[in-house]
Amino acid sequence: MGIVERIALEHPVVQAGMGGGIAGARLAGAVSAAGALGTVGIMEPRAFIAALAEAGERAGAGKPVAANLLVPFTKRSHVEACVGAGVAVVVLHAGRAPGAVRALRDAGIEVLQTVGTATEAQQAIADGVSGLVAQGGDAGGHLVGVADTDETLAAVLKVAGPVPVWAAGGVADAADVRRLLAAGAEAVVAGTRFVLTTECAAHPGYKRALVAGTDTVDTTLFGFGWPMRHRVLVNAATERWGEGPRAIGAVNRRTARLGGLLPLRLMALYPRLQHAAVPVFTAGPALEGMPDRTLGVAPLYAGRSVARLHDVVDAADAVASLTRRTSPESPARPPTPQA
Ligand SMILES: Cc1cc2nc3c(=O)[nH]c(=O)nc-3n(C[C@H](O)[C@H](O)[C@H](O)COP(=O)(O)O)c2cc1C
Repeated sequence: MGIVERIALEHPVVQAGMGGGIAGARLAGAVSAAGALGTVGIMEPRAFIAALAEAGERAGAGKPVAANLLVPFTKRSHVEACVGAGVAVVVLHAGRAPGAVRALRDAGIEVLQTVGTATEAQQAIADGVSGLVAQGGDAGGHLVGVADTDETLAAVLKVAGPVPVWAAGGVADAADVRRLLAAGAEAVVAGTRFVLTTECAAHPGYKRALVAGTDTVDTTLFGFGWPMRHRVLVNAATERWGEGPRAIGAVNRRTARLGGLLPLRLMALYPRLQHAAVPVFTAGPALEGMPDRTLGVAPLYAGRSVARLHDVVDAADAVASLTRRTSPESPARPPTPQA
């Protein structure tokens, strides 16, 4: 029996955990209520505890909810929050944490690790995970993926043996989901599709930019405090700075541990402090309630799938668009007007 069956998931479709407030209780709860797997992204521990509880309530009885932990920012209290909330699944990303894997699995939680290569998959299996998320370089947000999603999935499946593999990156519609399931994925993860929902807490201007935008870049520009690769929509910061001056790259690498030391709640402050003329940019996303000027200085995370996504819909409709069995051309409910 695989993870999907063990957690009694109706549709093998997963909303990616998106940290810093993008994927909170409203989004995760609505996705789970619609029969897919909603995921609360990492945030500071007290807010995380509250969000996990609210997501569970919104999802309804018997509907599984997941949590996402970005390893460099994960504290013991995050792990305890997942156990306390009784989440069905935890997905770890951007680092290894065998101690957390053990603690979560001992509590009966399914633990998956996002990987970009077969080697990372083997390491995660050695850490004791119950499943893997094979992330392709097409994916939006924080990237471990390099090759495209189909290639990454095939490489990870080759070494996974009986360990279930979920696929992430480039998923815009039900045909993508069917293709990846047919290629051997146990479930399919989508991020950008779910940013474009009414329940997502992204800045409305960020959603509008995704609806209009087609071009993404894989960049380390937003690396202050956490020198990670990110796939983002082109915006004023990426157009002006590209990869940024070499000196800034060095500063970002030297501040690698800073992000994990600073409280996560400060993440919401960074985009307000950043300025297009100074190429010191953090990974803090543009959220609803932030000034419009943050759209030019914060990372507008987006996968290559953005080129095929043109509407903001309710989360339940996003789930329906990924799970419908009829032809992809069949009419969807009209898109909700954007805020
Ligand atoms: C706005 C945004 C934020 C993201 N934040 C996280 C995160 O906090 N943790 C994580 O594991 N993955 C994160 N990701 C990556 C997703 O887990 C997933 O791999 C990706 O969205 C799949 O590609 P897609 O956007 O084309 O669907 C993020 C992606 C996006 C678009």
